[in-house]
Amino acid sequence: MNIPTTTENVRIFDTTLRDGEQSPGCSMTPQQKLVMARGLADLGVDVIETGFPASSQSDREAHALIARDLKDTTLAVLSRCLAADIETSLRTVQAAARPRLHLFLSTSPLHREHKLRMSREQVLESVHKHVTMARAHIDDVEFSAEDSTRTEEDFLHQVVATAIAAGANTINLPDTVGFTTPEEIRGMFERVIAQVPGADRVIFSTHCHNDLGLAVANSLAAIEGGARQVEGSINGIGERAGNCAIEEIVMALKVRNAFYNLGTRVDTRRIVPTSQLLSRLVGMPVQRNKAIVGANAFAHESGIHQHGMLRHRGTYEIMEPQDVGWPASQMVLGRHSGRAAVEQRLRALGYWLEEDELKLVFEQFKALCEKQRVVGDADLQALMQDASVSD
Ligand code: KIV
Ligand code: ZN
Repeated sequence: MNIPTTTENVRIFDTTLRDGEQSPGCSMTPQQKLVMARGLADLGVDVIETGFPASSQSDREAHALIARDLKDTTLAVLSRCLAADIETSLRTVQAAARPRLHLFLSTSPLHREHKLRMSREQVLESVHKHVTMARAHIDDVEFSAEDSTRTEEDFLHQVVATAIAAGANTINLPDTVGFTTPEEIRGMFERVIAQVPGADRVIFSTHCHNDLGLAVANSLAAIEGGARQVEGSINGIGERAGNCAIEEIVMALKVRNAFYNLGTRVDTRRIVPTSQLLSRLVGMPVQRNKAIVGANAFAHESGIHQHGMLRHRGTYEIMEPQDVGWPASQMVLGRHSGRAAVEQRLRALGYWLEEDELKLVFEQFKALCEKQRVVGDADLQALMQDASVSD
């Protein structure tokens, strides 16, 4: 498949080691984070968020290890809008060759009232004070308006204007609880970018959670609305139902390049190895039917699909498996498979059968499928011996 590429890139901000690690059962030691960070750098992400230094000594250690090792990737750390957090975060992040401080504060009415107990004015003051404080020490500051998608739009515009005026270079508008829809988030980005003073000086970022299974669709819509940085994690791990899966957004931009006309720096052939690395490190298997990186993503069992694939792979595949790091597509032989696929597999194993021989073996294959879900090469070889067909 000839997939065209383009030169304008969307930045990939990887938060596997921070938001991803917040996923229940996915915590990593500093050494494990270092191994994963190397994998992410090889993959070609633009920014790696290494952790939340004020929250743990382990995150501070992880950042120090990663900063010693990776000099070409921007390394970000997360910080609340609190002077003490910012001091700790700055001390930690400045070990990086390319440091970024990622400040966040909730902006939605629900969070203002129940979590922060702050008025709109207090939120604006805090944004101004803490972004200014951070910018006095570091050039690269990202500000996230947590729960943006449930924030009143006029107030969100004020928050963004304040963060930009105080010196933030990247503005992230997270869908913290995975509540928005594609149409809604696209409009939110379009209007912020068109209406907020200074919006043309910064990069807008999208950070979507997957509570309704819409994280990737919403991230794509945010890109349509003008976002040029996408935040996500490998295998989509993250709080609750997870974050936008990086492998999915990257491949969506690549496969549908003619529509989006945007690319990424990611070496897509590293996607599957990186996914498997994470799965091993955190001990969380990838679901078989997961897009791109699941074991079934390029596997075909039904006779009609296998027949189509044997004639032209484009009938049932929109990407080449090798493009994302799988060795090949798989024809899985089972109850739904047809004669063409069985014949093709037998030929690959060195058995060239006459029509009547194939008919006989195929009947035995179907009988075997009543007893087991998948028929492997060893099963086929045993069938051939039992059938005593000449090869
Ligand atoms: O989901 C969220 O809002 C976050 C922020 C801290 C960026 O993870
Ligand atoms: Zn998040």
